[in-house]
Amino acid sequence: MIFMSHIIPVTIMSRFLYFILLFSIVAQQVNGNGSVPVGASLTATNNGIPWLSPSGDFAFGFQQTQGKDAFLLAIWFDKIPEKTVVWYPKGGPMVPRGSKVKLTNGIGLVLSDPQGKAIWTSGSISDLAYGFMNDTGNFVVVDSNNRKMWESFSFPADTILPAQVMERAEELNSKISKTNFTTGRFTLILLPDGNLILRKRDILSGISYNTYYRSGTRNDSNTTISGLRFIFDETGYMYILRRNGQIFEVNRKDALPSRDYYQRATLDSDGVFTQYYYPKNPTGNTSWNVSWSLPKNICNSITGTSGSGACGLNAVCSLDGNLVNCECPHGFSLLDPNDPNGDCKPNFTPTCDEGYDRDQFDFIELNNIDWPGSDYVHVNPTNEESCKTFCLQDCFCAVAIYGDFQCWKKRLPLSNGKKDPSQVVKAFLKSRKGDIPHQTPSVILREQDNNQRSLIFVVVSTCVFIIFILAGVICVGFFRIYKKTTKYHHLISNKSVDTSLPRFTYQELVEATGGFKDELGKGAFGIVYKGVIGVKTMAVKKLERVLQDGEKEFQTEVNAIAKTHHKNLVQLLGYCNEGEQRLLIYEYMCNGTLAAFLFGEMRPSWNLRSCIVLGIAKGLSYLHEECSTQVIHCDIKPQNILLDDCYNAKISDFGLAKLLMMNQSRTSTGIRGTKGYVAPEWFRNTPVTTKVDVYSFGVLLLEIISCRKSVISESDYEGVAVLTDWAWDCYQDGRLEVFLENDIEALDDYKRLTTFVMVGLWCVQENPSLRPTMRKVIQMLEGVVEVIEPPCPFPFSVTN
Ligand SMILES: *[C@@H]1O[C@H](CO)[C@@H](O)[C@H](O)[C@H]1NC(C)=O
Ligand SMILES: *[C@@H]1O[C@H](CO)[C@@H](O)[C@H](O)[C@H]1NC(C)=O
Ligand SMILES: *[C@@H]1O[C@H](CO)[C@@H](O)[C@H](O)[C@H]1NC(C)=O
Ligand SMILES: *[C@@H]1O[C@H](CO)[C@@H](O)[C@H](O)[C@H]1NC(C)=O
Ligand SMILES: *[C@@H]1O[C@H](CO)[C@@H](O)[C@H](O)[C@H]1NC(C)=O
Ligand SMILES: *[C@@H]1O[C@H](CO)[C@@H](O)[C@H](O)[C@H]1NC(C)=O
Ligand SMILES: *[C@@H]1O[C@H](CO)[C@@H](O)[C@H](O)[C@H]1NC(C)=O
Repeated sequence: MIFMSHIIPVTIMSRFLYFILLFSIVAQQVNGNGSVPVGASLTATNNGIPWLSPSGDFAFGFQQTQGKDAFLLAIWFDKIPEKTVVWYPKGGPMVPRGSKVKLTNGIGLVLSDPQGKAIWTSGSISDLAYGFMNDTGNFVVVDSNNRKMWESFSFPADTILPAQVMERAEELNSKISKTNFTTGRFTLILLPDGNLILRKRDILSGISYNTYYRSGTRNDSNTTISGLRFIFDETGYMYILRRNGQIFEVNRKDALPSRDYYQRATLDSDGVFTQYYYPKNPTGNTSWNVSWSLPKNICNSITGTSGSGACGLNAVCSLDGNLVNCECPHGFSLLDPNDPNGDCKPNFTPTCDEGYDRDQFDFIELNNIDWPGSDYVHVNPTNEESCKTFCLQDCFCAVAIYGDFQCWKKRLPLSNGKKDPSQVVKAFLKSRKGDIPHQTPSVILREQDNNQRSLIFVVVSTCVFIIFILAGVICVGFFRIYKKTTKYHHLISNKSVDTSLPRFTYQELVEATGGFKDELGKGAFGIVYKGVIGVKTMAVKKLERVLQDGEKEFQTEVNAIAKTHHKNLVQLLGYCNEGEQRLLIYEYMCNGTLAAFLFGEMRPSWNLRSCIVLGIAKGLSYLHEECSTQVIHCDIKPQNILLDDCYNAKISDFGLAKLLMMNQSRTSTGIRGTKGYVAPEWFRNTPVTTKVDVYSFGVLLLEIISCRKSVISESDYEGVAVLTDWAWDCYQDGRLEVFLENDIEALDDYKRLTTFVMVGLWCVQENPSLRPTMRKVIQMLEGVVEVIEPPCPFPFSVTN
């Protein structure tokens, strides 16, 4: 169905496209031979002429997305009416009209927005001679010694083409959906150990799990048999070349002559790696035909207890020929209507409130559908009526599965759902009596309620907005003109104003910030604004929730903070204390937060990341052990680490706890800190010490190593331990390359990498007394002290 709806507009437009095609061929002949001179550029407009390969088969340029004023830098099959895209920069960044891509000596290929801000670059290339759009679909950039300095084939998106080779650690990532080029849920990667695998990844965190295909060509003891390259040859034959020159066949299909057919192999957004062909001289109606695919049945291939299976949570997977269908069962609807492979949300969730009344519920009956693995009770033997009764009595039970005199009770969310006619089972979905249709549906129905959709849209967009605010948090910074003062113990009451710290009037700050209009970010303690005092740009933090008549305390604390001096702490430069107004003034730091730096478009280098880790450790160690009064930060996370112009890490937001009436030894004020970074003892009745910071530092360290977020989403309490669990699993299995994915730079520095991971695992121990002090952490990170093997960090948690 989906294909047909595409074909109709395509045929209507084909004449029009034919003109463009003719024009393009003329343009290409005028241009010459596929070569692109240094200095050439393309602009994103409706009918821009792309850079064509000599034969005109492939084009490099901007593609406009359907009905939107957004463009994608891409390589595509130019002679096919669909203009099928085969390459785009990682993550598929969409750029507005007027954006440019330019080939510049010393800089390489640069994609920039209309304001000239670089969105993507190929990496710097000096002595650049020319670019070349090859007839193979490979765009190469060549230097004056005729060496290939960059090629699109080395940075594949979701597709490989005949003559393309994937080296170890290279990967294909699926798109979210047919029209959304953001990195999706599935990855094909030739692992550094030579194994070619397909696996699922979590969109929000980027964490991979659930491998559903393995070629098995990995290096165990016999190194010569491990896979070296994954090759898609000119005829469409796919194989893995082993180190010893032998071949492992991935597909066995008959070769198709490249003279007559275009071919591609794409990791589709449903997770199926599919090989397609298309005749070069089509007769009549034509579209891409499938010649081979892997796995054969994705609905059955993705198993395991983590993750949702091939489709989203609660969804049901079925195959219709080569097409994978993900559907929501009756009573559920898509969380994001634009993401058909995403999660399904229950329209109601069974709860165990006092009001649970079994008489209000009944079941919707579905045949041949099962969600293996989400059950918590298995009764054997029994009969269908009892099975339904068991579920009805139990407020936790959302679904009962009955088959072969056995009954399984399941709770939400359901995973690995699939429809399989060979399975003689019945699924009973618990539902409110009023919601059950008069005729029990024999097939699953997708809930299309529009109100529901717009509500979900509002919820999702609100979440996205909140996450955006949090991620962009606080581009804060500070002054440096601080005169050294004698170190007084800050608790010694000091009524007189410490003259070393400039005090500003509120009016001065209103002027400096232009009336508090340029907001840099929002933190736990208030909003940060950009301001200019004299010629210096600075960050002005307006404190909220300040003590009512805590004027003296404020003064004392400000003086105390002002006395902390360390190159890895953000320095306080001034303050304002006027009536209700309490403001702190810091130097403005242009490189923003570690969060933005770490989880942005490009992965920062391993060396830089290592320096940042040490900087944070030193700053924390100073707060814990070296400054006049011990300071527990309580909220170490990447949003609270700022980077100065030399990318030195600086800790911010410390020492403010007292200003906000928050007792550092825990009281009724409850848990401080941010989910995902909070040490387990906050939830237990044990004292809170500097070890809570060590825990948060451990989580942060694992994030810096892997460039992944520890928290999948703000609303997901389950996600908290994902990164630490995963780090432990990878470490225990001796497979750090999985934790690092394809970070060759870090993997080359294996000894230090292992040390860092071990230190991270020591820091996140559930038992605070096992965690090292920050001083010890520094010694271990620097290799001064040998790190011993960490134990499992979660001995108290249930493991599977
Ligand atoms: C392409 O043609 C230009 C002149 O039109 C020439 O300078 C260049 O060397 C040619 N490049 C290749 C790769 O043949
Ligand atoms: C274009 O591809 C062909 C075939 O793989 C190759 O021989 C040729 O060197 C390529 N041209 C450039 C400029 O890379
Ligand atoms: C693509 O999907 C991502 C993740 O679901 C979403 O944030 C983004 O807005 C989508 N882009 C478009 C153009 O729909
Ligand atoms: C290792 O591989 C080589 C080449 O495939 C083979 O000849 C040899 O017998 C293998 N050795 C072992 C121990 O499996
Ligand atoms: C294969 O494994 C051995 C031992 O595990 C390791 O020393 C060797 O470097 C590996 N070889 C390759 C090519 O990865
Ligand atoms: C192409 O296919 C569509 C739908 O299958 C059909 O309506 C149309 O007539 C076909 N066109 C040609 C030229 O065969
Ligand atoms: C695609 O496959 C179908 C069924 O095998 C076949 O009838 C059709 O001719 C094929 N199309 C092309 C373009 O090869």
